[in-house]
Amino acid sequence: MSMEDSPFGIRDSVALVTGANRGLGQAFVQALLAAGVRKIYAAAREPAQVALAERVIPLRLDVTNHRDVEEALAKCQDISLLINNAGIIHWESALDPLALALAGAEWETNVIGPLRLIQSFAPVLRKNGGGAILNVLSALTWVSLPGGPAMYSATKAALWSLTNSLRTELRSQGTQVSALHVAFLATDMTQGRQLPKAHPLEVAKYALTALQGGEVEILADGLTRQLKQALSSGVYLSPPKQG
Ligand SMILES: NC(=O)c1ccc[n+]([C@@H]2O[C@H](COP(=O)([O-])OP(=O)(O)OC[C@H]3O[C@@H](n4cnc5c(N)ncnc54)[C@H](OP(=O)(O)O)[C@@H]3O)[C@@H](O)[C@H]2O)c1
Repeated sequence: MSMEDSPFGIRDSVALVTGANRGLGQAFVQALLAAGVRKIYAAAREPAQVALAERVIPLRLDVTNHRDVEEALAKCQDISLLINNAGIIHWESALDPLALALAGAEWETNVIGPLRLIQSFAPVLRKNGGGAILNVLSALTWVSLPGGPAMYSATKAALWSLTNSLRTELRSQGTQVSALHVAFLATDMTQGRQLPKAHPLEVAKYALTALQGGEVEILADGLTRQLKQALSSGVYLSPPKQG
């Protein structure tokens, strides 16, 4: 049976969510519980910040720390779903010297961290029947806001590319690799910015439904769908202005 014929099912699965202490990651934990997950490793740099609930196991995991990843791998041998949600943004333009100074942390968190987790957990997913990976990307994967978070867009574009490579590579072991693209969310990341923001819990629920429907490129809001559709006409050449 091909992967498309047997999309991932969340009920009774075991999930690991990075950045699960707040924002979209916390919303994923809530949405997974509602979808009937058996257990969630709610990973955070400060696990004490994870909201405690039945079926939720707080886990210390800084995605940039390879020792944390090794320890998580030893503890979480039963997962069949990995959600790479943790991310950071710096809002500097590409010409701002700070963009370079902060680039290392942004690449480590948004690109290398998820890749390290996928490399580590791919054998676990295979052992547990294939499972699924959901990488959280952004509408800013495809467009860069003028004067906006240039390096962030670059990291999301890089992870998009890696996601596409990994999807092909992991197909043979039955692992569904999906990407979530969304424009703006009402979380700390966009605090104080006048932008049209979606509710994180609604986006998490939407993403999980789409994941279970076998969708590999999940577009969670109208703006993201419009941008994706306009790619072939070169929307990234004259992107919308920042709010
Ligand atoms: N907000 C938006 O408008 C938006 C739009 C599209 C995509 N996204 C993506 O959605 C994801 C979640 O963002 P959010 O809006 O929920 O942002 P957020 O509210 O700022 O939360 C970010 C989360 O990532 C965690 N994190 C950061 N660096 C980490 C590291 N090195 N190791 C482990 N965890 C780390 C944070 O943990 P701490 O509490 O320890 O800092 C926090 O839990 C990100 O990948 C982001 O790029 C966001």
